Amino acid sequence: MRQRKLKNLDEKLALYSGGIQINPLAMKGRWQALFEKEQPIYMELGCGKGQFILKLAQAYPERNFIAIEGNRSVMLRALEKASRVLNLDYDPEEVARPGRHPHTPLPQAVAEHGMFAVDEDKAMAAAQEYEESKWSTAEDDCVYAVLPNLIFANMYLRSVTDCFAEDELTGIYLNFSDPWPKDRNAKRRLTHTRYLKGYQAVTKPGACLEFKTDNEALFRFSVEEFDANELEKLEYTEDLHGEGSAYESANYMTEYEQKFSSKGNPIYYCKVKL
Ligand SMILES: C[S@@+](CC[C@H](N)C(=O)[O-])C[C@H]1O[C@@H](n2cnc3c(N)ncnc32)[C@H](O)[C@@H]1O
Repeated sequence: MRQRKLKNLDEKLALYSGGIQINPLAMKGRWQALFEKEQPIYMELGCGKGQFILKLAQAYPERNFIAIEGNRSVMLRALEKASRVLNLDYDPEEVARPGRHPHTPLPQAVAEHGMFAVDEDKAMAAAQEYEESKWSTAEDDCVYAVLPNLIFANMYLRSVTDCFAEDELTGIYLNFSDPWPKDRNAKRRLTHTRYLKGYQAVTKPGACLEFKTDNEALFRFSVEEFDANELEKLEYTEDLHGEGSAYESANYMTEYEQKFSSKGNPIYYCKVKL
């Protein structure tokens, strides 16, 4: 999703004083320390403006959630929305002081674990291994505590196993992931075997992946990938909001879902055991 770069993006993001710089590689095996309570962690990859995960985190206070978004402008929109919805009060005067977020236990985590020093050499080495460009920009990667059980992580996830340890996650959500329609970009799709193997490696036994999209081609590709990896389908529908859908009542809508389903597009949904 291409978004116009927002004016004064850096200054606006800085308003979210709960945000602290991270090295995503150094977070591996340590995400739990960012939350108020030690509870199972669920991750949404590509959360966009965050509506889905915000509702989920409010509905399930006994779970922790990490919402990852690689686009900084979109992350700003997510933070603005969360502040509005939760009525969080960010005082620009407080910006200079780290750790002034009303909910965040992040500064304590930094003090206790000393985990956030950016190791640029390691970040660059990892970037060269995976993609043509550098690892997003390590100095831009940031986490923002939104609720005691929800953090937004502004980072572009290239390799699941570089950022998460074995058994660290309990569930994964992929909503309206970028379709990458050209064959040569298939490995960038978040349901490509390369990613599926990563999700399997970092989730606890019995963990599930839930996937929603309006893009039929991406859905068909994803289901083929699920089958090729022998992932058991627990739930499946080609019309999530269709009449008599068994899933609609339990569904939390994303921004894209609202947009496309209001145009009458069917929404495809599949839940698999990882
Ligand atoms: C099409 S949007 C959908 C947003 C949201 N899930 C929704 O349904 O409204 C996909 C989002 O995923 C983000 N994204 C894609 N790949 C990513 C990655 N590897 N790491 C972090 N964010 C990613 C993009 O920046 C974009 O904002």
